[in-house]
Amino acid sequence: MGERKKAGLFDTTSINGLVLENRFVRSATWEGMAGDDGSCTERLIDLMVELARGEVGLIITGHAYVSKRGQAGPRQLGIYSEKLLTGLAGMADAVHKAGGRVVLQLAHAGCHAPYSLTGSEAAGPSRMEDENGLLCREMSIRDIQETVDMFGEGAARARKAGFDGIQIHAAHGYLLSQFLSPFYNKRGDKYGGDIVNRSRIILEVVERIRASAGRNYPLMIKINSEDFVDGGLSQEEMLYVARMLEKNGMDSIELSGGTPYSGRYRAFRKGRTESGDEAYYKSAAAKYKQEVGIPLMLVGGIRSFQVAEALVEEGITDYISLCRPLIREPRLILRWKSGYTARAACLSDNLCLRSVIDGQGLHCLWEDTAC
Ligand SMILES: Cc1cc2nc3c(=O)[nH]c(=O)nc-3n(C[C@H](O)[C@H](O)[C@H](O)COP(=O)(O)O)c2cc1C
Repeated sequence: MGERKKAGLFDTTSINGLVLENRFVRSATWEGMAGDDGSCTERLIDLMVELARGEVGLIITGHAYVSKRGQAGPRQLGIYSEKLLTGLAGMADAVHKAGGRVVLQLAHAGCHAPYSLTGSEAAGPSRMEDENGLLCREMSIRDIQETVDMFGEGAARARKAGFDGIQIHAAHGYLLSQFLSPFYNKRGDKYGGDIVNRSRIILEVVERIRASAGRNYPLMIKINSEDFVDGGLSQEEMLYVARMLEKNGMDSIELSGGTPYSGRYRAFRKGRTESGDEAYYKSAAAKYKQEVGIPLMLVGGIRSFQVAEALVEEGITDYISLCRPLIREPRLILRWKSGYTARAACLSDNLCLRSVIDGQGLHCLWEDTAC
Protein backbone atom coordinates (compact mmCIF):
# COMPACT_ATOMS: atom_id res chain seq x y z
CA MET A 1 0.00 0.00 0.00
CA GLY A 2 1.37 3.44 -0.94
CA GLU A 3 1.92 6.15 1.66
CA ARG A 4 -0.85 8.71 2.08
CA LYS A 5 -0.04 11.92 0.25
CA LYS A 6 1.12 14.67 2.62
CA ALA A 7 -1.08 17.74 2.89
CA GLY A 8 0.35 20.85 1.22
CA LEU A 9 -0.14 24.59 1.62
CA PHE A 10 -1.49 24.99 -1.89
CA ASP A 11 -3.95 22.10 -1.83
CA THR A 12 -7.52 22.77 -2.84
CA THR A 13 -9.84 21.86 0.04
CA SER A 14 -13.43 22.48 1.03
CA ILE A 15 -15.34 23.30 4.20
CA ASN A 16 -19.03 22.36 4.05
CA GLY A 17 -19.01 22.88 0.30
CA LEU A 18 -16.93 26.07 0.33
CA VAL A 19 -14.00 25.42 -2.00
CA LEU A 20 -10.72 27.05 -0.97
CA GLU A 21 -7.78 27.36 -3.35
CA ASN A 22 -5.09 27.13 -0.69
CA ARG A 23 -4.75 26.62 3.06
CA PHE A 24 -4.08 30.25 4.01
CA VAL A 25 -6.62 32.23 5.98
CA ARG A 26 -6.67 35.92 6.80
CA SER A 27 -7.60 35.84 10.47
CA ALA A 28 -10.32 38.34 11.46
CA THR A 29 -8.83 41.81 11.82
CA TRP A 30 -10.59 44.93 13.08
CA GLU A 31 -9.75 47.51 10.41
CA GLY A 32 -11.35 50.64 11.92
CA MET A 33 -12.48 51.60 8.43
CA ALA A 34 -16.26 51.26 8.71
CA GLY A 35 -18.59 54.23 9.07
CA ASP A 36 -19.47 55.47 12.57
CA ASP A 37 -22.68 53.42 12.32
CA GLY A 38 -20.77 50.25 11.34
CA SER A 39 -21.57 50.56 7.64
CA CYS A 40 -19.19 49.16 5.07
CA THR A 41 -17.08 51.75 3.22
CA GLU A 42 -15.24 51.80 -0.09
CA ARG A 43 -11.95 51.90 1.80
CA LEU A 44 -12.79 48.69 3.59
CA ILE A 45 -13.87 47.04 0.36
CA ASP A 46 -10.59 48.08 -1.30
CA LEU A 47 -8.63 46.41 1.51
CA MET A 48 -10.61 43.18 1.10
CA VAL A 49 -10.10 43.22 -2.66
CA GLU A 50 -6.37 43.68 -2.15
CA LEU A 51 -6.31 40.56 0.05
CA ALA A 52 -8.32 38.61 -2.53
CA ARG A 53 -5.91 39.67 -5.28
CA GLY A 54 -3.10 38.51 -3.03
CA GLU A 55 -4.71 35.04 -3.21
CA VAL A 56 -5.41 34.48 0.47
CA GLY A 57 -7.50 31.29 0.31
CA LEU A 58 -10.08 32.51 2.80
CA ILE A 59 -10.59 36.05 4.09
CA ILE A 60 -12.33 36.49 7.43
CA THR A 61 -13.67 40.02 7.94
CA GLY A 62 -12.97 42.08 11.03
CA HIS A 63 -15.35 41.28 13.89
CA ALA A 64 -18.83 42.62 13.07
CA TYR A 65 -21.10 43.49 15.98
CA VAL A 66 -24.43 41.66 15.99
CA SER A 67 -26.02 44.13 18.38
CA LYS A 68 -25.39 47.81 19.05
CA ARG A 69 -24.75 46.86 22.68
CA GLY A 70 -21.94 44.58 21.54
CA GLN A 71 -19.75 47.12 19.74
CA ALA A 72 -16.12 46.85 20.83
CA GLY A 73 -14.33 49.66 19.03
CA PRO A 74 -14.78 52.74 16.86
CA ARG A 75 -15.38 52.34 13.14
CA GLN A 76 -15.93 48.63 13.60
CA LEU A 77 -18.00 46.80 11.00
CA GLY A 78 -21.62 46.17 12.05
CA ILE A 79 -24.22 43.56 11.09
CA TYR A 80 -26.96 44.54 13.54
CA SER A 81 -29.47 45.95 11.05
CA GLU A 82 -30.94 45.38 7.60
CA LYS A 83 -29.87 48.89 6.67
CA LEU A 84 -26.25 47.66 6.59
CA LEU A 85 -26.99 44.98 3.99
CA THR A 86 -26.27 46.97 0.84
CA GLY A 87 -22.76 47.88 1.95
CA LEU A 88 -22.03 44.34 3.13
CA ALA A 89 -23.29 42.89 -0.15
CA GLY A 90 -20.90 45.28 -1.94
CA MET A 91 -18.00 43.81 0.03
CA ALA A 92 -18.90 40.17 -0.65
CA ASP A 93 -19.45 40.90 -4.34
CA ALA A 94 -16.15 42.79 -4.76
CA VAL A 95 -14.18 39.96 -3.12
CA HIS A 96 -15.86 37.37 -5.35
CA LYS A 97 -15.12 39.41 -8.46
CA ALA A 98 -11.46 39.51 -7.40
CA GLY A 99 -11.53 35.69 -7.14
CA GLY A 100 -11.61 35.51 -3.33
CA ARG A 101 -13.73 33.85 -0.66
CA VAL A 102 -14.95 35.80 2.34
CA VAL A 103 -16.50 34.78 5.64
CA LEU A 104 -17.96 37.31 8.06
CA GLN A 105 -16.99 37.21 11.74
CA LEU A 106 -19.97 37.70 14.09
CA ALA A 107 -19.10 39.25 17.42
CA HIS A 108 -20.33 40.80 20.64
CA ALA A 109 -17.93 42.44 23.08
CA GLY A 110 -19.96 41.77 26.25
CA CYS A 111 -18.11 43.27 29.24
CA HIS A 112 -15.70 45.03 26.90
CA ALA A 113 -18.31 47.07 24.98
CA PRO A 114 -17.58 50.67 26.05
CA TYR A 115 -20.44 52.93 27.12
CA SER A 116 -18.91 55.74 25.05
CA LEU A 117 -19.77 53.79 21.88
CA THR A 118 -22.89 51.85 22.80
CA GLY A 119 -24.64 54.34 25.07
CA SER A 120 -25.60 51.47 27.37
CA GLU A 121 -24.05 49.81 30.37
CA ALA A 122 -21.87 46.87 29.34
CA ALA A 123 -23.20 43.43 30.27
CA GLY A 124 -21.55 40.03 30.42
CA PRO A 125 -21.98 36.65 32.10
CA SER A 126 -21.37 38.11 35.57
CA ARG A 127 -20.99 41.48 37.19
CA MET A 128 -17.35 42.40 37.06
CA GLU A 129 -15.14 45.15 38.40
CA ASP A 130 -11.58 45.91 37.47
CA GLU A 131 -9.08 48.59 38.46
CA ASN A 132 -11.20 51.23 36.69
CA GLY A 133 -14.37 50.36 38.62
CA LEU A 134 -17.51 48.59 37.37
CA LEU A 135 -16.78 46.90 34.06
CA CYS A 136 -20.13 45.24 33.40
CA ARG A 137 -23.38 44.10 34.92
CA GLU A 138 -24.70 40.54 34.81
CA MET A 139 -26.87 39.58 31.84
CA SER A 140 -30.38 38.35 32.62
CA ILE A 141 -31.76 35.19 31.01
CA ARG A 142 -33.74 37.47 28.72
CA ASP A 143 -30.55 39.36 27.74
CA ILE A 144 -28.95 36.02 26.89
CA GLN A 145 -31.88 34.90 24.76
CA GLU A 146 -31.95 38.21 22.89
CA THR A 147 -28.23 37.99 22.24
CA VAL A 148 -28.54 34.43 20.91
CA ASP A 149 -31.26 35.68 18.56
CA MET A 150 -29.02 38.50 17.38
CA PHE A 151 -26.29 36.06 16.40
CA GLY A 152 -28.95 34.18 14.42
CA GLU A 153 -30.13 37.34 12.71
CA GLY A 154 -26.55 38.38 11.95
CA ALA A 155 -25.91 35.01 10.30
CA ALA A 156 -29.03 35.29 8.16
CA ARG A 157 -27.94 38.78 7.07
CA ALA A 158 -24.44 37.56 6.22
CA ARG A 159 -25.95 34.89 4.00
CA LYS A 160 -28.31 37.37 2.38
CA ALA A 161 -25.40 39.73 1.72
CA GLY A 162 -23.59 36.96 -0.15
CA PHE A 163 -20.80 36.04 2.31
CA ASP A 164 -19.44 32.52 1.85
CA GLY A 165 -20.01 31.64 5.49
CA ILE A 166 -19.62 32.96 8.99
CA GLN A 167 -17.24 32.65 11.88
CA ILE A 168 -18.50 33.06 15.45
CA HIS A 169 -16.04 35.05 17.58
CA ALA A 170 -15.78 33.11 20.83
CA ALA A 171 -12.15 33.96 21.62
CA HIS A 172 -10.05 36.75 23.18
CA GLY A 173 -12.35 37.60 26.09
CA TYR A 174 -15.30 38.74 23.95
CA LEU A 175 -18.81 37.86 25.10
CA LEU A 176 -18.92 34.15 24.16
CA SER A 177 -15.37 33.68 25.38
CA GLN A 178 -16.40 35.40 28.64
CA PHE A 179 -19.14 32.78 29.08
CA LEU A 180 -16.63 29.96 28.48
CA SER A 181 -14.18 31.42 30.96
CA PRO A 182 -14.48 30.83 34.72
CA PHE A 183 -12.43 34.02 35.10
CA TYR A 184 -15.40 36.05 33.80
CA ASN A 185 -18.29 33.65 34.34
CA LYS A 186 -19.35 33.21 37.99
CA ARG A 187 -23.02 32.46 37.30
CA GLY A 188 -24.93 29.99 39.41
CA ASP A 189 -27.60 29.14 36.80
CA LYS A 190 -27.52 26.85 33.74
CA TYR A 191 -25.11 29.23 31.94
CA GLY A 192 -22.42 29.05 34.63
CA GLY A 193 -20.53 26.48 36.68
CA ASP A 194 -18.96 23.53 34.87
CA ILE A 195 -17.81 23.65 31.26
CA VAL A 196 -21.06 21.99 30.10
CA ASN A 197 -23.00 24.97 31.45
CA ARG A 198 -20.45 27.60 30.42
CA SER A 199 -20.58 26.42 26.81
CA ARG A 200 -24.40 26.31 26.73
CA ILE A 201 -24.79 29.78 25.20
CA ILE A 202 -22.48 28.84 22.33
CA LEU A 203 -24.52 25.73 21.58
CA GLU A 204 -27.66 27.85 21.56
CA VAL A 205 -25.98 30.33 19.20
CA VAL A 206 -24.97 27.46 16.88
CA GLU A 207 -28.50 26.04 16.91
CA ARG A 208 -30.04 29.46 16.26
CA ILE A 209 -27.63 30.15 13.39
CA ARG A 210 -28.36 26.78 11.81
CA ALA A 211 -32.08 27.56 12.03
CA SER A 212 -31.70 31.00 10.44
CA ALA A 213 -28.92 30.44 7.89
CA GLY A 214 -29.26 26.72 7.12
CA ARG A 215 -27.28 23.53 7.68
CA ASN A 216 -25.45 23.90 4.37
CA TYR A 217 -24.06 27.36 5.21
CA PRO A 218 -20.37 27.15 6.25
CA LEU A 219 -20.18 27.81 9.98
CA MET A 220 -16.86 28.34 11.75
CA ILE A 221 -15.83 29.48 15.19
CA LYS A 222 -12.74 31.02 16.80
CA ILE A 223 -11.99 29.89 20.36
CA ASN A 224 -9.15 30.20 22.81
CA SER A 225 -6.76 27.30 23.23
CA GLU A 226 -6.58 28.70 26.78
CA ASP A 227 -7.10 32.08 28.44
CA PHE A 228 -3.65 32.58 29.98
CA VAL A 229 -5.15 34.17 33.13
CA ASP A 230 -5.41 32.66 36.60
CA GLY A 231 -8.72 30.84 36.81
CA GLY A 232 -9.34 31.11 33.06
CA LEU A 233 -10.34 28.53 30.44
CA SER A 234 -7.88 25.63 30.36
CA GLN A 235 -6.67 23.54 27.42
CA GLU A 236 -8.59 20.53 28.73
CA GLU A 237 -11.79 22.55 28.75
CA MET A 238 -11.07 23.86 25.26
CA LEU A 239 -10.80 20.26 24.06
CA TYR A 240 -14.18 19.51 25.61
CA VAL A 241 -15.69 22.54 23.83
CA ALA A 242 -14.14 21.53 20.50
CA ARG A 243 -15.48 17.95 20.78
CA MET A 244 -18.89 19.28 21.71
CA LEU A 245 -18.87 21.67 18.73
CA GLU A 246 -17.89 18.82 16.43
CA LYS A 247 -20.86 16.79 17.69
CA ASN A 248 -23.13 19.75 17.07
CA GLY A 249 -22.21 20.27 13.44
CA MET A 250 -19.51 22.97 13.53
CA ASP A 251 -17.62 23.00 10.22
CA SER A 252 -14.24 24.35 11.35
CA ILE A 253 -12.50 25.72 14.44
CA GLU A 254 -9.82 28.42 14.62
CA LEU A 255 -7.56 28.18 17.65
CA SER A 256 -6.22 31.34 19.29
CA GLY A 257 -5.71 32.41 22.91
CA GLY A 258 -5.70 35.12 25.56
CA THR A 259 -7.95 37.87 26.89
CA PRO A 260 -7.42 41.59 27.57
CA TYR A 261 -6.12 40.51 31.02
CA SER A 262 -3.51 38.10 29.70
CA GLY A 263 -0.60 40.56 29.59
CA ARG A 264 2.07 39.38 27.21
CA TYR A 265 -0.06 36.35 26.37
CA ARG A 266 -2.77 38.37 24.61
CA ALA A 267 -3.77 37.11 21.15
CA PHE A 268 -1.42 39.54 19.39
CA ARG A 269 1.80 38.90 21.30
CA LYS A 270 4.43 41.51 20.85
CA GLY A 271 7.87 40.68 19.54
CA ARG A 272 9.44 38.69 16.78
CA THR A 273 8.98 34.93 16.93
CA GLU A 274 11.95 32.80 15.96
CA SER A 275 11.25 29.75 13.84
CA GLY A 276 11.52 27.46 16.88
CA ASP A 277 8.75 29.32 18.74
CA GLU A 278 6.50 30.31 15.86
CA ALA A 279 2.87 29.18 16.24
CA TYR A 280 1.98 30.20 19.79
CA TYR A 281 -0.59 27.41 20.21
CA LYS A 282 1.20 24.57 18.46
CA SER A 283 1.03 22.14 21.39
CA ALA A 284 -2.69 22.81 21.90
CA ALA A 285 -3.22 22.27 18.17
CA ALA A 286 -1.42 18.91 18.32
CA LYS A 287 -3.75 17.80 21.15
CA TYR A 288 -6.78 19.07 19.23
CA LYS A 289 -5.80 17.01 16.19
CA GLN A 290 -5.64 13.86 18.32
CA GLU A 291 -9.14 14.35 19.66
CA VAL A 292 -11.16 16.40 17.19
CA GLY A 293 -11.95 15.60 13.57
CA ILE A 294 -13.17 18.90 12.12
CA PRO A 295 -10.71 21.10 10.19
CA LEU A 296 -8.45 23.27 12.32
CA MET A 297 -7.23 26.77 11.54
CA LEU A 298 -4.22 27.76 13.60
CA VAL A 299 -3.43 31.42 14.20
CA GLY A 300 -0.80 33.28 16.20
CA GLY A 301 2.83 34.08 15.48
CA ILE A 302 3.28 32.12 12.26
CA ARG A 303 5.77 34.03 10.08
CA SER A 304 7.83 31.62 7.98
CA PHE A 305 6.82 29.67 4.93
CA GLN A 306 8.83 26.67 6.12
CA VAL A 307 7.11 26.64 9.52
CA ALA A 308 3.68 26.95 7.89
CA GLU A 309 4.55 24.13 5.51
CA ALA A 310 5.73 21.84 8.31
CA LEU A 311 2.62 22.56 10.43
CA VAL A 312 0.39 21.42 7.57
CA GLU A 313 2.57 18.52 6.39
CA GLU A 314 2.89 17.13 9.92
CA GLY A 315 -0.87 17.32 10.37
CA ILE A 316 -0.74 19.80 13.27
CA THR A 317 -3.21 22.05 11.50
CA ASP A 318 -5.30 22.05 8.33
CA TYR A 319 -5.13 25.82 7.70
CA ILE A 320 -2.60 28.55 8.43
CA SER A 321 -4.25 31.70 9.70
CA LEU A 322 -2.42 35.03 9.63
CA CYS A 323 -3.34 38.50 10.84
CA ARG A 324 -0.45 40.97 11.18
CA PRO A 325 1.70 39.56 8.35
CA LEU A 326 -1.11 40.36 5.89
CA ILE A 327 -1.38 43.94 7.18
CA ARG A 328 2.23 44.51 6.24
CA GLU A 329 2.08 42.40 3.07
CA PRO A 330 -1.42 41.83 1.68
CA ARG A 331 0.22 39.92 -1.18
CA LEU A 332 2.34 37.66 1.02
CA ILE A 333 0.66 34.45 -0.17
CA LEU A 334 1.19 35.35 -3.81
CA ARG A 335 4.84 36.07 -3.02
CA TRP A 336 5.27 32.72 -1.29
CA LYS A 337 3.45 30.97 -4.12
CA SER A 338 5.80 32.56 -6.65
CA GLY A 339 8.73 30.87 -4.91
CA TYR A 340 10.10 33.87 -3.01
CA THR A 341 9.59 32.24 0.35
CA ALA A 342 11.52 34.62 2.62
CA ARG A 343 9.92 35.13 6.01
CA ALA A 344 6.99 37.57 6.35
CA ALA A 345 8.25 41.11 6.88
CA CYS A 346 5.92 41.71 9.87
CA LEU A 347 7.83 42.66 13.04
CA SER A 348 4.92 41.96 15.44
CA ASP A 349 5.50 45.38 17.00
CA ASN A 350 1.73 46.00 17.21
CA LEU A 351 1.99 49.50 15.77
CA CYS A 352 -0.79 48.42 13.38
CA LEU A 353 -3.08 48.23 16.38
CA ARG A 354 -2.22 51.81 17.22
CA SER A 355 -3.16 52.89 13.68
CA VAL A 356 -6.65 51.51 14.26
CA ILE A 357 -7.09 52.86 17.79
CA ASP A 358 -5.91 56.32 16.66
CA GLY A 359 -8.63 56.32 14.00
CA GLN A 360 -6.36 56.31 10.95
CA GLY A 361 -7.58 52.96 9.67
CA LEU A 362 -5.55 49.76 9.67
CA HIS A 363 -2.08 49.87 8.20
CA CYS A 364 1.47 48.91 9.04
CA LEU A 365 2.99 51.94 10.77
CA TRP A 366 6.48 50.64 10.21
CA GLU A 367 5.92 51.38 6.52
CA ASP A 368 5.16 55.01 7.44
CA THR A 369 8.50 55.39 9.14
CA ALA A 370 10.63 53.14 6.95
CA CYS A 371 11.67 55.65 4.33
C1 LIG B 1 -5.13 45.21 14.54
C2 LIG B 1 -5.69 43.89 14.98
C3 LIG B 1 -7.04 43.68 14.92
C4 LIG B 1 -7.58 42.43 15.29
N1 LIG B 1 -8.92 42.23 15.16
C5 LIG B 1 -9.45 40.99 15.43
C6 LIG B 1 -10.83 40.72 15.19
O1 LIG B 1 -11.59 41.56 14.71
N2 LIG B 1 -11.28 39.47 15.48
C7 LIG B 1 -10.47 38.48 15.98
O2 LIG B 1 -10.92 37.37 16.20
N3 LIG B 1 -9.16 38.72 16.20
C8 LIG B 1 -8.63 39.93 15.93
N4 LIG B 1 -7.29 40.16 16.10
C9 LIG B 1 -6.42 39.02 16.49
C10 LIG B 1 -5.88 38.32 15.23
O3 LIG B 1 -6.89 37.79 14.42
C11 LIG B 1 -4.90 37.18 15.59
O4 LIG B 1 -5.61 36.22 16.35
C12 LIG B 1 -3.65 37.66 16.33
O5 LIG B 1 -3.19 38.90 15.82
C13 LIG B 1 -2.50 36.65 16.23
O6 LIG B 1 -2.16 36.38 14.89
P1 LIG B 1 -0.86 36.99 14.17
O7 LIG B 1 0.32 36.65 15.03
O8 LIG B 1 -0.83 36.33 12.82
O9 LIG B 1 -1.06 38.47 14.07
C14 LIG B 1 -6.73 41.40 15.77
C15 LIG B 1 -5.36 41.65 15.86
C16 LIG B 1 -4.83 42.87 15.47
C17 LIG B 1 -3.34 43.07 15.55
